[in-house]
Amino acid sequence: DLRVCATVAEIRDVVAGLRRSGGIALVPTMGYFHEGHLTLMREARRRFPYVVVSIFVNPIQFGPNEDLEAYPRNLERDLRLAREAGVTAVFVPGTDEMYPDQSCTFVQVDGISGVLCGRSRPGHFRGVATVVAKLFNIVRPDAAFFGWKDAQQVLVVRRLVRDLNLDVEIIAVPTVREPDGLAMSSRNTYLSPAERRAATVLYRSLLAAREAVLSGEGLPAVRDRLAAAIAAEPAAGLEYAEILALPGLTAPGPGDRELLLAVAARFGRARLIDNVVVRLP
Ligand code: PAJ
Repeated sequence: DLRVCATVAEIRDVVAGLRRSGGIALVPTMGYFHEGHLTLMREARRRFPYVVVSIFVNPIQFGPNEDLEAYPRNLERDLRLAREAGVTAVFVPGTDEMYPDQSCTFVQVDGISGVLCGRSRPGHFRGVATVVAKLFNIVRPDAAFFGWKDAQQVLVVRRLVRDLNLDVEIIAVPTVREPDGLAMSSRNTYLSPAERRAATVLYRSLLAAREAVLSGEGLPAVRDRLAAAIAAEPAAGLEYAEILALPGLTAPGPGDRELLLAVAARFGRARLIDNVVVRLP
């Protein structure tokens, strides 16, 4: 049956028992599960005998004017869904358990954290890298699963693992979408019906931009058209529309074959992001 642990000592104890009989996958989350989270859990379960899910709304990755207080929560439902997805243990620490008084050590991944969401959310990836490093040290998983919806997060975590010699395999899972293409997100619950309809502009514009890049159009022109397509939606407040080279999120040069097309925009209270990858032949 599903083990639910609220303290570091408890989850360490549970994981120590599991480790003797098989590999352990970690799925870090902030809860309020949707099909994106559940896909990570099922994929983790498919590849590992034991799956640990963490549920922690990490205060240090939220900016002062962001939605920390409003962030949706439903632990009862999350535990039921985790059980149904075959999860072995859930780690649900309180804020004091993760950040006891006088915590003052942070993990900063330079460069890659300074573009896209890192530029519009200063300190966000420092908060993400810190909590992910802590979770890796608490659970010591063989692998950790992350969604490509947050592509920059995957790249930051991969760099963190490499630079600090952490012994964890990072596995990225493709973005799970609603039937109309909208990327699933806990923040979609903030959308009014009209905003929900408008939000489909993100993926539609990204797909059109990918086609334009593949047909040989210049990147600056494609980028401008991507930005204009989103700005033309009255309900959308464009934050950024960028084309960057993978895996470093650097300005693309002629030698770069793998590009990330990434957008962020506000729809009412919701700040939504999405991306697609273009592989040039
Ligand atoms: P959260 O937003 O809850 O997302 C948890 C995981 O689910 C992340 O790896 C995210 O990329 C993935 N995910 C979310 N929506 C997805 C979708 N539509 N398709 C596929 N995967 C999706 O990301 C975080 O929490 C936090 O930053 C965290 C890593 C837990 C650190 O606090």
